Amino acid sequence: MRDESPTPLIASDSRTGFSASSSSISSSSQIAPLTAPDANGTLVDSFGRHITYLRLSITDRCDLRCCYCMDEKTTFLPRAQVLTLEECLRVAAAFVDLGVTKIRVTGGEPLVRHNVVWLLERLAALPGVRELVITTNGSQLERFAPALRKAGVKRVNISLDTLRAERFRTITRVGDLDKVLRGIAAAQAAGFRRPKINTVMMRDSNFDELSDLVRFAIDRNLDISFIEEMPLGDMERARQSPLRSDEAMALLQKHFIFLPSAESTGGPARYWRIPGTSTRVGFISPHSHNFCGSCNRVRVSSRGELFPCLGNSGAVALLPLLRADSTDGTSLRAAIVRAMGIKAKGHDFGHQLDAPQVLRFMSMTGG
Ligand code: 5AD
Ligand code: SF4
Repeated sequence: MRDESPTPLIASDSRTGFSASSSSISSSSQIAPLTAPDANGTLVDSFGRHITYLRLSITDRCDLRCCYCMDEKTTFLPRAQVLTLEECLRVAAAFVDLGVTKIRVTGGEPLVRHNVVWLLERLAALPGVRELVITTNGSQLERFAPALRKAGVKRVNISLDTLRAERFRTITRVGDLDKVLRGIAAAQAAGFRRPKINTVMMRDSNFDELSDLVRFAIDRNLDISFIEEMPLGDMERARQSPLRSDEAMALLQKHFIFLPSAESTGGPARYWRIPGTSTRVGFISPHSHNFCGSCNRVRVSSRGELFPCLGNSGAVALLPLLRADSTDGTSLRAAIVRAMGIKAKGHDFGHQLDAPQVLRFMSMTGG
């Protein structure tokens, strides 16, 4: 993995072609004008979008090495640079104070973080949190599913790109498909209703399996979302042109009937239903269907950088504020409010996947 440690407090990446709403900001004392009316109200960015959803990465570590997410020889952050669980909780509490109602815990792989259940229990108990959810690769889920449920996690998203053991090993480099399948079953046995499978579509790897994955979801009462591969991180693997949702849909329509659904899980996926089944099939299409206009979310990385937009490198470092002497959260909340001013209008990943537009991996920012 690249060394991305000297992250400026706020940086904008000219390669993205973004026009962030404020100029680059290099210290917390030089900050953009407040865009939210006051620090107690809902977070609103400079395009009028209300931010109610926080994706909180609690570790950059993972027990898998998915080829689209990490390099094989990825090294992880030193512990001192990663938010402690208490700091994760303080960040989340600050966002909840500012009107955030949904929190997704991500990684890396969140379930490899020691004491993750301690954090989840406290996040679920924050007054104002309506929905605590988690994204996992599923390989530790067999062990954790009952504890997650008990902690108050409402939903689990599980990454699964293939149903073939060998292929799974190739994509994840080290993973064991069986463990993930057992994890999915354990989540359902623990009472999670319709966990959602996330499948990254890859022309060179799982294009021929998309209908098998939908069939798998139908047979097990799961939802499934197909994700267009995003150009995040500078990879050894040459990325091919991304497999677009409309190509996948054309292929799937040979096997299933799709009825459009107005349902939303509050995310960027557009959903379809397959008559006679309870399964929802979603498409997350950063390339072919820009969903930025209705974006309601921001991300915090495991080292405490607030990324207002996944497709842009503008970031605010929260860690120094968390570790400063004053711990009443005032400066933290003020920095979060001001950061809304640099939330970009939208991303433009372009169609070239071989040149990364954002030089950080998903495991750094949180999926
Ligand atoms: N493009 C699209 N999805 C990605 N994920 C990780 N890296 C990428 C990428 N470059 C997905 C994982 C998982 C979620 C955390 O993010 O497959 O579902
Ligand atoms: Fe781990 Fe998820 Fe990245 Fe795969 S995509 S290496 S499971 S963080």
